[in-house]
Amino acid sequence: AIDIAKLRDESGFITLDTGYKNTGATKSAITFLDGENGILRYRGYPIEQLAEHSTFLEVAFLLIYGYLPKKAELDKFIHEVRTHTMVNEDMRKIFDGFPVNAHPMGVLSALVTSLSAFYPKAVGLDIDKEKEYLDLTIIRIIAKLPTIAAWSYKNSQGHPLNYPKNSLDYCSNFLHMMFSLPVEPYEVNPVVARALDKLLILHADHEQNCSASTVRLVGSSHAGLYSSIAAGIDALWGPLHGGANQEVIEMLQEIHDAGGNVKQFVEKAKDKNSGFRLMGFGHRVYKNFDPRAKIIKKAADDVLKALNINDPLLDIAKELEHAALNDQYFIDRKLYPNVDFYSGIIYKAIGIPINMFTVMFALGRLPGWIAQWLEMRRTKEPIGRPRQIYIGETARDYVPVDKR
Ligand code: ACO
Repeated sequence: AIDIAKLRDESGFITLDTGYKNTGATKSAITFLDGENGILRYRGYPIEQLAEHSTFLEVAFLLIYGYLPKKAELDKFIHEVRTHTMVNEDMRKIFDGFPVNAHPMGVLSALVTSLSAFYPKAVGLDIDKEKEYLDLTIIRIIAKLPTIAAWSYKNSQGHPLNYPKNSLDYCSNFLHMMFSLPVEPYEVNPVVARALDKLLILHADHEQNCSASTVRLVGSSHAGLYSSIAAGIDALWGPLHGGANQEVIEMLQEIHDAGGNVKQFVEKAKDKNSGFRLMGFGHRVYKNFDPRAKIIKKAADDVLKALNINDPLLDIAKELEHAALNDQYFIDRKLYPNVDFYSGIIYKAIGIPINMFTVMFALGRLPGWIAQWLEMRRTKEPIGRPRQIYIGETARDYVPVDKR
């Protein structure tokens, strides 16, 4: 291998790889991803087994601490998350200041940043010496993110905020805070709670994606965990990253409203001049299939059946997948449904509004962001500071304003 550092010091040599398409930014022991063979593993465990047998909080523990917890450890972890779901009443007041039409992602990011103000000790923490406080900092954000997320939705509805019910499990509690009304408590359907749990597991980490890289980069200046995660939330908000699941549902609705002719839309997506792409198709890394999409497709079937919902958008999604997978254009370019293709159908069936889809992604991705931040700090990575190749003006003299 070429020793880039040595080459740079000796010759001023700089590599340029915009978008980091072929540049490793770190060594990592968290998530293994093989795009050619459609393999995704967290800490070595196949995503299929985790989605089938594990729970989101167990997966969070696995990603963050690197091993599957013993029963007592898992019970303690779950208990601690349950006892930190409340958000400081003064933080609650911040919600009152947001306009009702504030996007829930903007609210989520702002509230997570404000955690640093409420827990100032989390900033500048010595992660080696203050291990207990580090664990508490981690527990706090895992416990409070669903509360903040549900409240960001309630705020957008102009509804009163629901306090967490700690007798409920993680996902059931979130659903309660989202959907209970003062006069009408929400009955959590265990099938829905389990489907949501599975979706969160599938989103929990995806190695050096844009938001995880952002968390690592911000954290590399030794900014605190909460500020680093807030930056990750902002990165996720972009339509090229976490925003695609919303666009899938909008596309399926458009196909439905136009009469349901999927072939016509497949043809349109092949026409480069149309500016239209099949949303939820293709992936930078997965080139044969996205293993998460397979699991989600089955979960979508199960949830709709359990809820007795007949969503025509699911039929359109399946027809579209079938038409595209049998089309030479998509075969040649190795374009397959990605994780976002079916997730929106489940969110829609659960009653999650479209502008909350990216918030749901953030809830799922949280353990991955924490694990990436922690790994970056533990391995004592230097501050991230990319170089550039300057292409601007050469030296020139300042011209006074009246002489320009
Ligand atoms: N529909 C039609 N054609 C497509 C699509 C699509 N969804 N995706 C890629 N292509 C075509 C491109 O036009 C290009 O064709 P060409 O070789 O004839 O020029 C070829 O396939 C390769 O596409 P690129 O854009 O170069 O692939 P890249 O790896 O850069 O992009 C991406 C991957 C952004 C996911 C892309 O496939 C896409 O835009 N998909 C739709 C949006 C989407 O679903 N995003 C979610 C991604 S998953 C996630 O972030 C969680």
